[in-house]
Amino acid sequence: MTADTLVIFGITGDLARKMTFRSLYRLEAAGLLDCPIIGVAREDWSHDHLVSALRAALEAAGEPTEARAFDRLARRLSYLQGDFADQALYQALADRLKDADKPLFYLEIPPSLFAPVVEALGAADLTAHATVMLEKPFGHDLASARALNARLHQVLAEEQILRIDHFLGKQPVLDIHFLRFANALLEPVWNRDHVAGVQITMAENFGVEDRGAFYDPVGALRDVVQNHLLQVLALVAMEAPVGSGPDALWDRRVDVFRAMADVDPARCLRGQYQGYLDVPGVKPGSRTETYVELSLAVDNWRWSGVPFHIRAGKALAARATEVRVVFKRPPRLAFLDEPEHPDPNELVLRIDPDPGLRVYLLSKKASGSSARSVHLDLSFAAELGQPPEPYERLLNDALTGDRSLFTRQDVVEETWRVIQPLVDHPPAPAPYERGSWGPVQTPGRTSWQLPWLSSAD
Ligand code: BG6
Repeated sequence: MTADTLVIFGITGDLARKMTFRSLYRLEAAGLLDCPIIGVAREDWSHDHLVSALRAALEAAGEPTEARAFDRLARRLSYLQGDFADQALYQALADRLKDADKPLFYLEIPPSLFAPVVEALGAADLTAHATVMLEKPFGHDLASARALNARLHQVLAEEQILRIDHFLGKQPVLDIHFLRFANALLEPVWNRDHVAGVQITMAENFGVEDRGAFYDPVGALRDVVQNHLLQVLALVAMEAPVGSGPDALWDRRVDVFRAMADVDPARCLRGQYQGYLDVPGVKPGSRTETYVELSLAVDNWRWSGVPFHIRAGKALAARATEVRVVFKRPPRLAFLDEPEHPDPNELVLRIDPDPGLRVYLLSKKASGSSARSVHLDLSFAAELGQPPEPYERLLNDALTGDRSLFTRQDVVEETWRVIQPLVDHPPAPAPYERGSWGPVQTPGRTSWQLPWLSSAD
């Protein structure tokens, strides 16, 4: 179902400035927009002000802009000022939407407003054929996610709700099931017979900066693990989807979460970088984690006994998001000079930056009879071209009624269920230095491989 009007709640906010305007412009330039766009917010903005904000956002992003596409987008935009808590706003919106049959409402507003705004849209009779796209976070624990779903379902059917997780719009994340199931080389070894463990890393080399007020009540676990990294894990672990509808992948992903026990907080590590407490907006003495590490188990025939390790942190030594599949070591090889167990093969899917694939293999050194680990690299952009930005893809999908990349209710609730013990019983955060790889590891914990940082290493 293609939307005939896009209504953006919170168009004056940070996310619009950083992501939405640029995505809209790219869609316009590609000829993919063909409906009016109404921005709604509390600020007293005129149409001219909105257009200047669009221009400033494109300039700040360094987006090359073509005048005709810019003008088309500027003409498509209009602005409606109002208080989200005031039903008069929704009456005014209903007047603007007189000729619209299938509006798409995009809520880039604080999560506490999701349910009240949807209820007000319902009360103004605007939701019968609408879809509603919601930003993250979706709940702050299992109970609040369930409560939010229940309130939304009073007004909307599940098919009308699009929950955004921008990682699902990243090209290398979309590549995971292609790589796995379209390559006869990979699928037969993708299981507990051949894989020793999976390491998923999301390292950021910057701190919380100006987001203290948002980040402090959230922390690394809720910010990026419950959503982004668990979704990546599910794509790595799931069975092949059957059929091609919007639910095909979700059906297999939810199976992965259902096969996961609740996380054991004793097997998790939390950290906080030194200097975090000085970030504006952070509470004095805050115990919020800026680093988290957890080990999860997918207890099914494919993965039983294979640990899935996840780590995510801010102010670390480098920016790197990757999935590393570590295969089992070969046996002792008598024909080597030093007949020890050689290094295992590894397959690394780099998600950020510069998405690509690296495979580590063992090869014979030029002289003698010893082996050396060597690697084969593939850069997706160099080989396959530049993909759309995640938000550009997701906005287009939402406008054209494709909900396959938007998280489903049962999946969201399962992910919260898995991490809930850590939400309830967080171990004290260990301090770590900015620019390090997180808190000092105690013996017996995961032995993390250094991420693939550049083609030189
Ligand atoms: C967001 C988190 O969802 O994802 C941020 O709130 C994080 O804290 C960001 O920095 C990372 O996304 P990306 O696409 O820049 O890797």
